[in-house]
Amino acid sequence: MHDEESSSAELMRLINGYQVSQTIHVAAALGIADLLADGPRAVDELAPLTATDESALHRLLRALAAIGILHEKDHRTFGLTELGQELRGPAGAWAAFIGRPYHWTAWGHLMHSVRTGENAFHAMHGVDVWEYRAAHPEEAAIFDAAMTGLSLRVNTAVAAAHDFGRYGVIVDVGGGRGALLASILEHHPGVRGVLFDQPAVVAGAHADGFEIVGGSFFESVPQGGDAYLLKSVLHDWEGEPAIRILRVCRRAADTGTTLLIIERQFSLPAAKLSDLNMLVGPGGRERTTDEYAALLAASGYELVGETPTVAGVTVFEGRAI
Ligand SMILES: C[S@@+](CC[C@H](N)C(=O)[O-])C[C@H]1O[C@@H](n2cnc3c(N)ncnc32)[C@H](O)[C@@H]1O
Repeated sequence: MHDEESSSAELMRLINGYQVSQTIHVAAALGIADLLADGPRAVDELAPLTATDESALHRLLRALAAIGILHEKDHRTFGLTELGQELRGPAGAWAAFIGRPYHWTAWGHLMHSVRTGENAFHAMHGVDVWEYRAAHPEEAAIFDAAMTGLSLRVNTAVAAAHDFGRYGVIVDVGGGRGALLASILEHHPGVRGVLFDQPAVVAGAHADGFEIVGGSFFESVPQGGDAYLLKSVLHDWEGEPAIRILRVCRRAADTGTTLLIIERQFSLPAAKLSDLNMLVGPGGRERTTDEYAALLAASGYELVGETPTVAGVTVFEGRAI
């Protein structure tokens, strides 16, 4: 009986999961964690600072306390828990993105994707995520910061999992604002880095000791790299466009050049949900090792190794043949 009760409660917790996600998103978007950085504050002080309705904000903060993000110090005064402190770091940038209405709408139409196999985002907005963000720079800035946040969570593990020091030049293709590249170059000062991404994205990057090039990876990528790095790029695309990206990289690379693909470890539960995120959002998929090997084989590469990291991503190593 007890087990049945706890299973039912666990199921209800999972069913209502989106309420938790949206509650944390709104807290992150309002900057609640930063406002509580120096200690607990009262709702009547926080409401004007966040331009919110005091009573509704109180209800939000109570819910955040119920899920362990805040603690209620005394009546109507809230502080950060250890979990809540995390919102001040990289996870906060992801939380600020995940509930954005335009992205949320795509998840609201998961059923459309499951019934038709189509990308829900495109079906709802009439454009893909990249076109949408190009037309909405404020959303692009939130997304790019979220990507930087995700990268910061795995950079150290990635840097430890592969000897990047053996390359003269690393080209980070679709490298966002360059968080991973900056971390790699910090560990390997002798390596030269080239950050490549869409012009509007690299415009927001700080050139921390690397060269910056804007363009489209469907047309060309910088030549002369000893290693081409694609982190969380191929999972955004279905097979045909993913192969096109890889062929463009292959065209820029000499035979024998290394290709490094960093993507989620498919065996982990988080990868299965990320796979749905790819289905409804950018219109891509998470892949198994065999599936990456097949993409490489179709693009002039062979898969020569894979190194899982402690951060839940794997470094797949290919060689241009
Ligand atoms: C999921 S993000 C990953 C960013 C970064 N590699 C990371 O791991 O944080 C995918 C990246 O692909 C870039 N991208 C999308 N379409 C592109 C294109 N046609 N040419 C170049 N970059 C593109 C996006 O701007 C974005 O930075």
